[in-house]
Amino acid sequence: MMQRGIAAACVVLAWLLLCAWAWRRSRREAAARTRALRALDTAPGEGAVLVAHASQTGYAETLAAQTADTLRAGGLAVRTVALGQLDPARLAHHGRVLFVASTYGEGDPPDAAAPFADRMDAATGGALEGLQYAVLALGDSGYANFCGFGRQLDEWLRARGAAPLFDRVEVDNGDAAALRHWQHHLGLLAGRSDLPDWEAPAYDAWRLSGRVLLNPGSEGGPCYLVSLAPGDGARAAWQAGDIAEIGPRRERGGQRLPHREYSIASLPQDGCLQLLVRQMRAPDGSLGLGSGWLTEIARIGDEIELRVRVNRNFHAPADGRPLILVGNGTGLAGLRAHIKQRRAAGHRSNWLIFGERSAARDAFCNAEIEAWLADGTLARADRVYSRDQPRRRYVQHVLAEQAAQLRQWVEAGAAIYVCGSLQGMAAGVDAALREILGAERLLALQHEGGYRRDVY
Ligand SMILES: Cc1cc2nc3c(=O)[nH]c(=O)nc-3n(C[C@H](O)[C@H](O)[C@H](O)COP(=O)(O)OP(=O)(O)OC[C@H]3O[C@@H](n4cnc5c(N)ncnc54)[C@H](O)[C@@H]3O)c2cc1C
Ligand SMILES: Cc1cc2nc3c(=O)[nH]c(=O)nc-3n(C[C@H](O)[C@H](O)[C@H](O)COP(=O)(O)O)c2cc1C
Repeated sequence: MMQRGIAAACVVLAWLLLCAWAWRRSRREAAARTRALRALDTAPGEGAVLVAHASQTGYAETLAAQTADTLRAGGLAVRTVALGQLDPARLAHHGRVLFVASTYGEGDPPDAAAPFADRMDAATGGALEGLQYAVLALGDSGYANFCGFGRQLDEWLRARGAAPLFDRVEVDNGDAAALRHWQHHLGLLAGRSDLPDWEAPAYDAWRLSGRVLLNPGSEGGPCYLVSLAPGDGARAAWQAGDIAEIGPRRERGGQRLPHREYSIASLPQDGCLQLLVRQMRAPDGSLGLGSGWLTEIARIGDEIELRVRVNRNFHAPADGRPLILVGNGTGLAGLRAHIKQRRAAGHRSNWLIFGERSAARDAFCNAEIEAWLADGTLARADRVYSRDQPRRRYVQHVLAEQAAQLRQWVEAGAAIYVCGSLQGMAAGVDAALREILGAERLLALQHEGGYRRDVY
């Protein structure tokens, strides 16, 4: 009896210590954020340019860095910053700001820009008369709200009296002509007409070294674990959260097609770069360009063009805070890389919530998940199979059922990482989290970088 009492007291004490640690850490982070904001408020110097990027999966950030390099080559003083770190009301402290902004969801700002976008409405009109700006808006005209956030940002700046240096440049799917147009304007700003053209980052040569079908007999599309080995000189450096850009071909050795993106599912120390790829087909039966290349057309040993894109927004927290990993389908890829990285770092407070269709056919990587549970890498794993019972059950239902546990984890400082489909899953998870934690708490968590998504 006495022993049980002592054990219970120890658990309570450990819990209190964890909460105190989480509270102190959040205070330290808030102070660091305030310091960073103050530093941005200092006058950047005559003629200096601030380049602000709003990026979900890293492309806008890459282009912002190229923009800054081009201006520096022309002799200008330049600072780059994530838009989410700026206060809209204080933009006027900067004489010239170039914005590189992508659009996400359905015409929404990228997650990391939410702190800025949320405060845009609150900032009163006419306060930015001293500001000169330009917007490079990234988007994809396949979406209904093309360049939605870039356009919204541009209109907002104009309405507050800021003066455009030149018209907004809209880039459809990385369109090279639009990017050249932006570079032309940068050349004018820098007073140089001899600046070199930007080039897309070069691919490295990798080899297809393995391909395993993970869901034989599935009602969904076939999903493969694709392994790629670096060829001579290939840069095999990445971390959990990063994205592989693949250069597909229509047939073996044939014409090069536009790149496709895949969440990386392994770590460099695994010796190969792995992806979880769902094979896509059009209604006429033809294969999707990227998924068809990786899952059917290319053969083992064939060369695959690949480049790694840094995706800072989905990198792991810098410390060992608890992690809640939520995903469905091929979204397990990004979560798998994170679990492997946490295991290597010895961070064991990890809770996986994964959804697919049927336990009999779609339990991807189940042996691995069992092994992680057995060796303590995962503190818990909830696998939910939507079609194994008369009423569909998804990851968001697990969240709702485990609301009390989830609140406890978040109170203890947990971050929430979501990977997988935007349609259905991401919105369902977002709604469930809002219900469980409250809209304000979830927003605060997102602003602190404790709620991150790689959804597509
Ligand atoms: C950040 C990010 C991470 C991603 N991670 C992953 C991942 O880990 N795993 C994964 O599998 N995918 C992932 N994707 C999705 C991936 O990039 C591709 O979009 C996906 O593989 C489909 O591309 P595809 O080239 O095979 O198909 P596409 O050729 O682009 O076709 C796309 C869709 O349109 C349909 N289609 C094509 N032509 C027609 C037509 N003529 N008429 C009607 N329909 C048509 C195809 O069937 C397919 O469903 C990710 C995307 C992003 C943005
Ligand atoms: C899930 C998802 C949703 C998107 N929604 C839109 C959209 O509504 N409008 C648009 O123009 N582009 C949309 N895009 C395209 C992106 O803006 C474009 O790919 C951009 O280059 C991404 O830049 P980033 O990597 O910096 O986020 C979307 C892309 C993804 C993956």
